[in-house]
Amino acid sequence: MIEIPKRIKNLIPYKAGKPISELAGEKKLGKIVRLASNENPLGPSPKAMQAIRENISWAHLYTDPASAELVEAIAEKYGKKSDQIICGHGIDALLADIIIAFTEESDEVLCFNGSFIGIYVNARKLGRKLSLLELKDYELDLSAIPENISPQTRIIYLANPNNPTGSIFSRSQFEILMSRIPQEILVILDEAYAEYALSYCPDFPTGLNYDYENLIVARSFSKFHGLAGLRIGFVFGPERLVKELYKVRLPFEPNFLAQKAAIAALDDNEFMARTLAANKESLDLMISRFNELGIRLLPTYANFLLLVMPSEEFARTFYEECLNNGLILRHVKPFGMPNGIRISSGSKDETLFALKIIEEVYQNMTNSLCEETVIQSEDNI
Ligand SMILES: Cc1ncc(COP(=O)(O)O)c(C=O)c1O
Repeated sequence: MIEIPKRIKNLIPYKAGKPISELAGEKKLGKIVRLASNENPLGPSPKAMQAIRENISWAHLYTDPASAELVEAIAEKYGKKSDQIICGHGIDALLADIIIAFTEESDEVLCFNGSFIGIYVNARKLGRKLSLLELKDYELDLSAIPENISPQTRIIYLANPNNPTGSIFSRSQFEILMSRIPQEILVILDEAYAEYALSYCPDFPTGLNYDYENLIVARSFSKFHGLAGLRIGFVFGPERLVKELYKVRLPFEPNFLAQKAAIAALDDNEFMARTLAANKESLDLMISRFNELGIRLLPTYANFLLLVMPSEEFARTFYEECLNNGLILRHVKPFGMPNGIRISSGSKDETLFALKIIEEVYQNMTNSLCEETVIQSEDNI
């Protein structure tokens, strides 16, 4: 019998937001809307779709292993050197490469409980210990990091904006942290939602503006450019580190069509502007309705909102009741937030549908909570 290594046996497979097809197979529903994975409700960038159509007939060839054309396009767009950039199958895959390239098995990854699940899954599958700090008021508390560094800490992972809270930290918080941690510790700054944050906060501390010797910045094409299904992202960092990442990344990653799509998407200014406008419209509608309903929510700098429910039980029932009515949200317990429900921005139609379902579910649940309280207090008379 094949022995399964302990670190794999104990892993829980990554569970993404429920696919529409799965829910459709389980329940007879007239309409299903999924706002569970922070995808772009406008679809893919039209320029990216055109690039795929134009290049599909070359798909029988292996792609350029250095993705030179894409790297060049990214370098030009962000005013960086091309040897400081490497592309991969999305940030998720690149996180695994970074852990492989820069840590030994006995090293630890320091990050926050209540942050992006991808870092937990990658560290654990590679047998690296995770050291988890607690959020402070639902935000990453950067000031707590230096005193929690141990001799084994090799990587510090920070998502800015953070998923699932949507919070950001400031330029000065980041710079103070960088000045207080040893040069031997690598900081990963995950900026999957940076473009949204910049639209809300022009002073957002974009990692691409820094050149620390121990900083790697990760960017994604999944959200803002609408290419989640193609799996493509990149990291930017010191040339010395990027060179090592090329040794561990898969040789022909990311795939040829994804590269072509990403190059075109970088240039699709009209789509990017529409994406930001649609995001704002959807989140504004949601925020004002949730406030009217009395649902607690956190301020956001991304393309999603975190609803803070009164308890884990309430959050689970709320999630399930929404599913029963055709609305797929994300219960973010696996991210370390058992009472959190995350909702992504949607198209106008999706947003209005979601608000209708949420209003019904939330009001039914709070009414029955009130009835239970009344019955309990009558019992006590
Ligand atoms: C903070 C953060 N980083 C990375 C990712 C994944 O990015 P990619 O699709 O490029 O792997 C996500 C996706 O939800 C995310 O929220």
